[in-house]
Amino acid sequence: MDDAAIRQLIQHEMAQTEALMQAEMRAEVPLAELVMQYAIGDGGKRFRPLLTLLSCGLCAYHDEHAITAAAFIEFIHNATLLHDDVVDESALRRGKPSANIAFGNAASVLVGDFLYTRAFQLMVRTGNSDVIAMMADAVNLIAAGEVMQLGNMHDPDVDEARYYRVIELKTAVLFAAACKVAGLLAGLDPAQSEQLAIYGRKLGMAFQIMDDLLDYTGDEALIGKALGDDLAEGKPTLPLIRAQQQLPAADKARLRHIIEQGEREAIGEVIALLHATDALPYSREAAARLADEAVQALAEFPDNDYKTALTALAARTTERRR
Ligand code: IPE
Ligand code: IPE
Ligand code: MG
Ligand code: MG
Ligand code: MG
Repeated sequence: MDDAAIRQLIQHEMAQTEALMQAEMRAEVPLAELVMQYAIGDGGKRFRPLLTLLSCGLCAYHDEHAITAAAFIEFIHNATLLHDDVVDESALRRGKPSANIAFGNAASVLVGDFLYTRAFQLMVRTGNSDVIAMMADAVNLIAAGEVMQLGNMHDPDVDEARYYRVIELKTAVLFAAACKVAGLLAGLDPAQSEQLAIYGRKLGMAFQIMDDLLDYTGDEALIGKALGDDLAEGKPTLPLIRAQQQLPAADKARLRHIIEQGEREAIGEVIALLHATDALPYSREAAARLADEAVQALAEFPDNDYKTALTALAARTTERRR
């Protein structure tokens, strides 16, 4: 099933989700609306609401709160991005100057808060306390992941276990929530809902590993973000962790120094060091393994178009270039 066929399955619900997001971006403050329209209005892959809507389809849940959930999940995602670009000092997002560049850090932080809280208002509308409790935990864990990552900056000793915990929290928790919310809304038994969460968590980790790879290997025009942002922050991602294990002593010392200093200008040198090791294929294979595990988590669900779509999405994670 290709991307067009997948999107076709939930085309109607996605259009409703866009309409709900538009309606819920209304604010008393014109600046808040301006920043939200700029940041969310027409950009992004809408990957998380896609997961929510497909998961709702898989659970045969077609009530209006499938749309509500898809919208609050995408709002939370965009709130994290508004804050993330401030923290990461990133200048490009979705192919244009990021909101922190266009409107400043203060506006990005505050409008991020607006979106987070608007998301919670939408959650309350579902009237489902399991959903609200799950989302409250998820949003808290995402924040914990971002703080944990902050503590890892410029630290070349970060190992795979620490790396995996960060990506699980900062990224995979929201993917898990995007899928599990469908099970909670549909009233599946807890074990089944948990399988959806596992699918999302594994997929989210694979997705973030690919994002971290693309920061060195991607095409700026396709990903719409500046390459090398991770290096500039001294962020020890999987490729850099793996390369350290394989490089001869002098090269390893040089790479560690670059991580400590956060030398963006050294990106060409770092890419050459990565290519001198198996760090790139190693990371891609790690993502592929997680994507496989994601698919396995769906084994007990009935075979239908939604399951085929979720399976295809996972299978193609390692091919993604944007
Ligand atoms: C970016 O997410 C943040 C990560 C978790 C890597 P996406 O790659 O889904 O960003 P958009 O929404 O499509 O712009
Ligand atoms: C993901 O990490 C961001 C969040 C989950 C908030 P990144 O910092 O790598 O995301 P991008 O690359 O800026 O989109
Ligand atoms: Mg970032
Ligand atoms: Mg970040
Ligand atoms: Mg990134």
